Amino acid sequence: MVKIAPSILNANFAHLQRDVDKVQNADILHIDIMDGHFVPNLSMGPGHVLAIQTKLPKEAHLMMEQPSRYAKSFLDAGAKRLIAHAEAEDLSKFIRTVHSNNGIAGVAINPNIPFSKLMPYLKRADFFLLMTVKAGFGGQSFMRSVLPKIRKLRKLTYADIEVDGGVNLETAKLAVRAGATILVAGTSLFNSNDPKHQVEELRSISNREIHLSVTEV
Ligand code: DX5
Ligand code: ZN
Repeated sequence: MVKIAPSILNANFAHLQRDVDKVQNADILHIDIMDGHFVPNLSMGPGHVLAIQTKLPKEAHLMMEQPSRYAKSFLDAGAKRLIAHAEAEDLSKFIRTVHSNNGIAGVAINPNIPFSKLMPYLKRADFFLLMTVKAGFGGQSFMRSVLPKIRKLRKLTYADIEVDGGVNLETAKLAVRAGATILVAGTSLFNSNDPKHQVEELRSISNREIHLSVTEV
C-alpha cells in the first residue's frame, strides 16, 4: 500500500492546526524545515513540530546544512521520522543520533545530486527520499527526469522510497510505477476544496497503479 504524507508547507499558517485536522486520513505528516542556508527559504522549527497536534506520525524534512546538530531537538519535539540530505554533510552521525533515540532515519537527495551520494547509506538508512523538485519551495512542477533514479534505487532496496515535490493525481502514477511507496503532497492537497477527499483520491489512484503494474507482469 502506498502511503500519503501531506506537506503542510502550503497549508494556511494562520490556521495550521485546522489544516492539519483536514488530512488526518493520511499516513504521515510531512513538516518541512528550512534553514535559509541549505535552501534560501525559512520555515518552521522544533517548536512548531511540538505544537502541532495529530495522531499521524510526524516527519521532519530537514533542509538544513547541519542536520546532525539539530536531529535531537526535532526528535525531542516529537518527530519520529527525520529526513536529512546527503549533500548537506556526512550523515553517519545523523543516522546514529536518530537510531539511538528510537527514530526512523531517511536520506534524501535533490534532483541535481548524483545517485552515488545515496550509496554510503544504502544499508544504514531506514528509507530514502528523492526530491522531484529543487528543495526550498512548494508549488513547483514534478521533474520527470528523477524517475530513472527511483527505478534504479528500487532495484537496490526494499526500503520505502518517498518522493517529494509536485505530486498530484497524474504525477503520483508515474512515481508509483517507478517504485515509490510514500508520496509527499502539499499544493495539490491544500489548494483543493477538500483535502481529505484529495488524500483518498491520491491513495486510491496510487494503489491502483501498483495493482496494474503487478498484473501486467
Ligand atoms: C519542497 C518541500 C516539499 C514541498 C511539497 O522543498 O520539501 O515538501 O513543500 O509541496 P508541493 O506538493 O507543493 O510540491
Ligand atoms: Zn519536503
